[in-house]
Amino acid sequence: MTFNRSLKIAPSILAADFANFGAECEAIEDQGADWVHVDVMDGHFVPNITFGPATCAAIRPHIKGVMDVHLMISPVDSYIEAFAESGADVITAHVEATPHIHRTMQAIRGNGAKAGIALNPATPASSIEYLLDMVDLVCVMTVNPGFGGQKFIHSQIEKVHQIRSMIGDRPIHIEIDGGVDPTTAPLVANAGADVLVAGSAVFRGGSVSNPAPYGKNIRNIRAAAVSVDA
Ligand code: DX5
Ligand code: ZN
Repeated sequence: MTFNRSLKIAPSILAADFANFGAECEAIEDQGADWVHVDVMDGHFVPNITFGPATCAAIRPHIKGVMDVHLMISPVDSYIEAFAESGADVITAHVEATPHIHRTMQAIRGNGAKAGIALNPATPASSIEYLLDMVDLVCVMTVNPGFGGQKFIHSQIEKVHQIRSMIGDRPIHIEIDGGVDPTTAPLVANAGADVLVAGSAVFRGGSVSNPAPYGKNIRNIRAAAVSVDA
């Protein structure tokens, strides 16, 4: 994984057909996805349950590019090794998930993955000030984590600006997760984000047997983001 700040669209398979993950991952990559975003929820840190490392390992062979695993779980440290072994390229944990998030970031890198740190909407940018030298990605949640299809929280745009300025020249991605569509994408791209996660706005209208809408949706989000960013 070489670092660059070009715009990347990362469809979230939370909005895919859960009975068809392998084929869905292949379909979104064929249709122009840059990364595949994988949402892991535990029913404790967030009020929803998805799946664990065995599912990540099962879908890994169906993804050619980056598998971006977003852990919405607490505790988290005891599962890092299993998610790294599942083939995750990026493992993101929440700053709110443990009092020892510094140790969590060390564990992710120590297991050979890129380390991501996610912030819930109520968490200030300053909470990660002392982590920036040990992370590869900052994920700004623009909805409260747990469910797809929620409304984008506009107050987070200011947070993206702040984090972009804190990062300076460091090779750290800024990822946006929640409510990204062609209307909100330009707002966060303009504020400095380079990875846009989108679930419902990518999978809407398509399926494994009719994947063309995935491509159209991805192109629409990318075009909207790049137009303002330029
Ligand atoms: C929310 C997840 C997101 C979610 C985004 O807890 O982390 O990745 O799938 O879904 P949309 O794009 O529908 O808001
Ligand atoms: Zn996510």
